[in-house]
Formats: sequence, C-alpha cells, structure tokens
Amino acid sequence: MIRIGIVGCGFIGTVHSFALHQLIAGGLVDARVAATYDRDAAKAAFMAGHHEGAVAASTLDACLDAVDAVWVCTWTAGHLEPVEAAAARGMPIFCEKPLAPDLATAERLAAALCLVPHQVGLVLRHAPVFRTLAAEVASGRHGRVMAAQMRDDQYLPNQGIYGSTWRDDVSVAGGGTLIEHSIHDIDVLRWVLGDPIDVTARTGSLAGHPGIEDTATVLFSYPDGVGATLTSVWHQILSRPSTRRLEVFCEDALLWTDDDYLGPVHIETGDGAEAVEAELPDWVDRFTVGEALTKPLAQYAEPAKHFLDALSASGPAARGFPDAPAALAAHRLVDAAYRSAAAGCRPVSPA
Ligand SMILES: NC(=O)c1ccc[n+]([C@@H]2O[C@H](COP(=O)([O-])OP(=O)(O)OC[C@H]3O[C@@H](n4cnc5c(N)ncnc54)[C@H](O)[C@@H]3O)[C@@H](O)[C@H]2O)c1
Repeated sequence: MIRIGIVGCGFIGTVHSFALHQLIAGGLVDARVAATYDRDAAKAAFMAGHHEGAVAASTLDACLDAVDAVWVCTWTAGHLEPVEAAAARGMPIFCEKPLAPDLATAERLAAALCLVPHQVGLVLRHAPVFRTLAAEVASGRHGRVMAAQMRDDQYLPNQGIYGSTWRDDVSVAGGGTLIEHSIHDIDVLRWVLGDPIDVTARTGSLAGHPGIEDTATVLFSYPDGVGATLTSVWHQILSRPSTRRLEVFCEDALLWTDDDYLGPVHIETGDGAEAVEAELPDWVDRFTVGEALTKPLAQYAEPAKHFLDALSASGPAARGFPDAPAALAAHRLVDAAYRSAAAGCRPVSPA
C-alpha cells in the first residue's frame, strides 16, 4: 500500500485529491492519501478531512515522514523545495508543470527528479486524442508534415476557477500564458513534430501585469521550410472555457482536433474524412462522482493511475510518463520563445 502525501492543497492539489480519492475508493490503485501539507494550514486540514486516516502535517518534513510518495502541487516557485527534500529521501515524486519559473531552476529541479521514480503533470501526454494524432503523423501514411497550428485560449487565470494571485507575479509564475499554460501545447507540438531548429516569438501584456504575457504568437521552424505556430491568449471572457485547437497539415491529409482528451481526431484525406474518437477507460465505471465530473476527473486519474501502477509493479525502478527530460525540453522551447520576444522577434535556437 503506497502512502501518498499531497503538498500544495490549492486548485490542482484538490483536483488530484479528488482523482486519487476516486481511484482509491474504487479499489483501482493500491494506495491511500496519508498526509497533506500547505503553507496555509486550513487548506491542508480541509483536504486531509476528505481522506480517511489522513493527517494535515504542520511542516513539509512531517508530511514526508508520513508517506511513501509525494504529489507536489504548490505554485510554480514552490516546487523546488519539496522536490529536493523528497528526492533526498529517495521518495517517488509526481511534480506539477511547469517545473520552475526559469530554465536554470527547472534544470536543477529536473536533476533532482531524475534521482527517483517521478512523473510530471503534463497530462496531455495521457490524452488519447493527442496519442492518436501523434501516432497517425509518425506512421508516415499521410506523407510529411507541411505545417501545424495550435490555438489555445483561456481566460486570464487570476479569476474564476483559477482564482489565484500568484499568476500575476512573474517571480512566482515565471511568465504568463506561455510558461504557465501553453507549456502543455509546446510539449504536444514537440511530441508530434519533434524539436525545432529555432523559435521566433512575439508577446504582449495587454492586461498590464509586468512580465506576464497574455498574448503570444510563436513560430517553431523545422527543416525544408516547415513551420508550426502557436497562438496563446489569456482573454477576459469568463464564460468562455479553456479551449485548444490543433491542425496538422500533412502532404496527404489534414488532421485536426478541438478537444484535448478523447477527441475526435478528424482525418481528411483524398479518400474522404473520418473522425476517430476514444472511449473513457472501463475503470471509470467505479467512479461515484456522476457523469458530469467523470470525464474531467479521468483526465487526471489516468496519469495518476499510470504512476501508481508503475510504482506498485516496479518500486524504485518505476518510470513515470512523461518524465523530467521531456518536461525540460518543453521548458527549453519556452525559454527560447521568451528570448526571441525579448530580442525583438529574432529567431533563437533552443538552449
Ligand atoms: N497540470 C495541470 O493541468 C495544471 C492545472 C492547474 C495548475 N497546474 C500547476 O499546479 C501548480 C499549482 O497551481 P494551482 O492552480 O493549484 O495554484 P493554487 O494557488 O490554487 O494552489 C497552490 C497552493 O500551494 C500552496 N503553497 C505554495 N507554496 C508552498 C510551499 N512552499 N509549501 C506548501 N504549500 C505551498 C499555496 O498555499 C496554495 O494553497 C502550478 O505550478 C500550476 O502551473 C497544473
């Protein structure tokens, strides 16, 4: 039985807490949440109250003393301390994205993660829709990729369900929409198209939070004139949920989706169009949250189950997915985009 600690009991910590609760109550993983910790003691106590026998620890060390694995869900600048403390104990770590506010700290954090079994919360890597799209492109049956475009829009996440203040603070968040949100998109583009030769970016902060870009247009350049663009905005339409749309133009097909979990992936070729849609995993039948919450929770339960199953099967040799090197590669592209924007839209090679 793996005893889990949750460090950081805010928005995403609560999502993980819910997902873990459903997996545990359904007998789907051999684990329990044994301790919680947050610098705000009331939040840790509230979360512990939802897990039978869990304690709200008053320090990070007390939390780590009580558990076998830790979920690091603090705000971005708060990831390093618990990751280094857990890694020093040889403890498996699930760490939220982005790893850190800047590339140098992300490198240091990734080095600590690599000492232990770990997984990073780039959850789109577990989404069947992108798995299908990446596999279709990699198969070569649609010819070479000619161009791709990802469009991501979300309301400025210092309000609504993301009612946090740290996302306005560059020293805590590291930047705006590119590092905080679109690191997911950049990871997906890298998964589908590989590493670009260079990155060109333009960013702006229309809402006026210094260092927090709320509009970004990025060009990732590949050999043979191939390019992928990312348009990422944080708008002010609170009724408009977070949405993504990815289009990949191949020589013999257009592949696109505007969903970020089950799909469908639309594939249009000279032979016609098809829509490939994935099913929820069978095991969500054991969830007790009702239909409306089952799908959003499954997006987080699936990666958690993957990591816990790996830990149960392989112990210290377990490999989570995605891992720190993959997350670091996405950070390098984010960093290149920031350097390009700062240099007036000059093409920059990833570090
Ligand atoms: N993978 C995803 O889909 C996803 C979604 C949302 C957020 N995130 C990431 O998760 C992280 C947290 O985001 P959030 O929306 O939950 O923020 P939040 O503000 O809702 O919660 C963060 C919590 O961490 C606590 N905290 C901060 N530093 C701490 C420390 N050193 N020790 C203990 N507790 C500490 C705060 O008190 C707060 O309760 C961010 O890095 C964010 O980018 C990932």
